[in-house]
Amino acid sequence: MSTLVSYAVERGVAVLTVENPPVNALSPGVPQGILEGLAQASADGEVKAVVLIGGGRTFIAGADINEFVKIHEGQGGGLDAILQAVTSLEASAKPVVAAIHGTALGGGLEVAMACHYRIAVAAAQVGQPEVKLGIIPGGEGTQRLPRLAGAKAAVELCAFGEPIPAPQAHAAGIVDRIVEGDLRAGAIDFALGVAGAPPPRTGERTVTADPAIFAAAHQEADKRMRGQTAPHAAIDAVESATRLPFREGCAEEARLFEQCLKSDQSKALVHAFFGERAVAKIPGIGKDTPLLPVRRAAVIGAGTMGGGIAMVYANAGLPIILKETTQEALDRGMGTIRKNYANSVKRGRFTEAAANERLALITPQLTYDGFGECDIVIEAVFENMGLKKQVFAEIDTVARPDAILASNTSTLDIDEIASATKRPEWVIGHHYFSPANVMRLLEIVRGKASSKSVVASSMDLARKLRKVGVLVGNCRGFVGNRMFAPYCRESIFLVEEGAPPELVDGTMYEFGMAMGPLAVQDLAGLDVGWRIRLEYKHTEVPGVRYAELDTLLCERGHYGQKTGRGFYLYDEARKPSPNPQVRELAATVGVPPRAIGKQEIVDRLTCALINEGARILEDGIALRSVDIDIVYINGYGFPAWRGGPMKYADLTGLTAIRDRIRGFGWKPAPLLDRLAGEGSTFAAYDKGKS
Ligand code: 3HC
Ligand code: NAI
Repeated sequence: MSTLVSYAVERGVAVLTVENPPVNALSPGVPQGILEGLAQASADGEVKAVVLIGGGRTFIAGADINEFVKIHEGQGGGLDAILQAVTSLEASAKPVVAAIHGTALGGGLEVAMACHYRIAVAAAQVGQPEVKLGIIPGGEGTQRLPRLAGAKAAVELCAFGEPIPAPQAHAAGIVDRIVEGDLRAGAIDFALGVAGAPPPRTGERTVTADPAIFAAAHQEADKRMRGQTAPHAAIDAVESATRLPFREGCAEEARLFEQCLKSDQSKALVHAFFGERAVAKIPGIGKDTPLLPVRRAAVIGAGTMGGGIAMVYANAGLPIILKETTQEALDRGMGTIRKNYANSVKRGRFTEAAANERLALITPQLTYDGFGECDIVIEAVFENMGLKKQVFAEIDTVARPDAILASNTSTLDIDEIASATKRPEWVIGHHYFSPANVMRLLEIVRGKASSKSVVASSMDLARKLRKVGVLVGNCRGFVGNRMFAPYCRESIFLVEEGAPPELVDGTMYEFGMAMGPLAVQDLAGLDVGWRIRLEYKHTEVPGVRYAELDTLLCERGHYGQKTGRGFYLYDEARKPSPNPQVRELAATVGVPPRAIGKQEIVDRLTCALINEGARILEDGIALRSVDIDIVYINGYGFPAWRGGPMKYADLTGLTAIRDRIRGFGWKPAPLLDRLAGEGSTFAAYDKGKS
């Protein structure tokens, strides 16, 4: 008997319990264990019915995603065992009841749907999230789900991948009963109630649907899952259930599944799934590192970022003080927070009562009162070293000796900021992205003195704040902004060379970026970069090309959205239209204009990111290439289905990337050059380091 599925008989019901922590994935051995248990139950004359349940915190969270990595790397793996298990479960002469708690996701829900009945606790969730891995359900889910819940609900679940709570699944016909109290006992009672009756088999049902459902879903997928192929394949697979007999529909599902699994999109999304979890693992910082509990916080500065950070804490249920220097700035900051919450209520994201609860957790004030009780203080004042040092010197005197002191600086040296305190080991960067309450990324900037405990606690806190924390080293711009600088510069060069801004942005949008680089710069304010450039003018090297167009725009007061004019013109509703002055000013830069194609735009902009990414990696500013990918996916709108810039480079081939870089007349980063020469990848470099 498999050690991953246990077998017990209770009151004449065989109970098969999946024991594959932490999430009972259908790893090799689990489907086999289910099959063995089923065979044993079928042969046992005492057994009248079967219950399939998950041990530990959940039912089955799906196929083992590591198996897909094996397939991507050409090392075997497949769904045969899962397919055998679902077929045998449905064929069983004795009724089989799936008892669901935690999550029944992907292959987990497919196994449950192959059972004759499903019961669940109210807190359980079910879903087909495969599209988030660039694939579609491959365990006959696209065929059974529409037969249980109708095509519309099946399309929604399979194409968009969001799980639903058990009560909703009950209303949709996926779950037969919601049980209160002990699930196992409830499942055995249920099984005894249905024993003896012929088991209903979902595969024997039929389903029809209005074809308009699928047309609408394809349109919706183009919007919600822009650029991705799996959602469309999922819709087609569900559609096949409405016109083909069950087995033929399953064959169609298998064909589409294979196609998706082989795609670069699937490789990229699986990389992003494991990457998001890998970034939490910091070499040298073990699970035994003491964590500082964060129960109360304070943020200094109620501007764009400070206000957003206050909302992040309040949204996670943590009380936070919001400190400003003037009543006017404080009122403005609180006004913005109130407006944001009111908008969320209007959009139905949460109730007014919930918004008020969150607001009540934010205490606006002008003094340092109560700072002594805070476990963390976050500084979010203007980006000015003198001011930051003064603020840190003040915090040093008011904060508890064991409080984390964090700075939200986007460019400044954390070590210099820490030097303003007598406890640099407690100082760290917590770099949020605007809008802080929306963007998932939190760059955690490790200073040379930051203690392990402060680092580990920051990573843990990020998770509690529902952020993706990525540990980065201390350098100008850290990981994200350091790479963003050459990317933005290159986008301006393209315009100077004759590419219209709409073409540059439109091409990158088509590539999958949330926004084009020029539109982003207009949003952030062109004056931000301009001021930095003026400050560092003396460091510019003669003979090196610098972007000039943004300076020319700024000199005319065109700072982007805030002045209604930048790379684009903006109307009252901030709708962009072409700015004719851009072409005129670009012509004065002295680069002869030429026609620039989309491929060149994509290549130059992605190579700008990758080349700097490789330097960052070699400098040890990012721990692994996957950390860079997670930064870009969660903070810069890089499409997850391309895996992040470094995975994109791996999938394209590092030799090709290096040759493109040389072709542009740039110098390849030494690490990139070396890996390309060895025929290697960034992923292999990561493995070599771990
Ligand atoms: N396969 C392999 N490992 C998995 C896994 C899976 N399906 N699901 C989770 N894990 C691993 C994680 O990598 C993590 O490992 P780590 O501790 O070494 O980093 C560990 O389990 C715990 O996962 P989380 O940290 O994500 O735990 P949470 O409690 O936060 O979340 C969860 C649990 C909601 C189940 C979440 O892990 C999740 O969404 N998992 C993926 C579910 C999924 O996509 N299922 C479909 C798989 S594809 C499929 O089933 C194809 C089918 O159609 C044939
Ligand atoms: P902002 O100008 O909107 O807000 C700064 C606020 O700090 C102002 O309200 C000001 O009154 C207040 N302030 C100044 N000195 C203070 C003091 N001594 N005590 C209390 N409050 C004080 O600036 P923003 O954009 O919020 O930036 C803050 C920090 O966050 C900067 O370091 C910036 O580099 C960083 N950052 C900004 C991002 C952005 O997109 N705006 C993104 C990530 C980081």
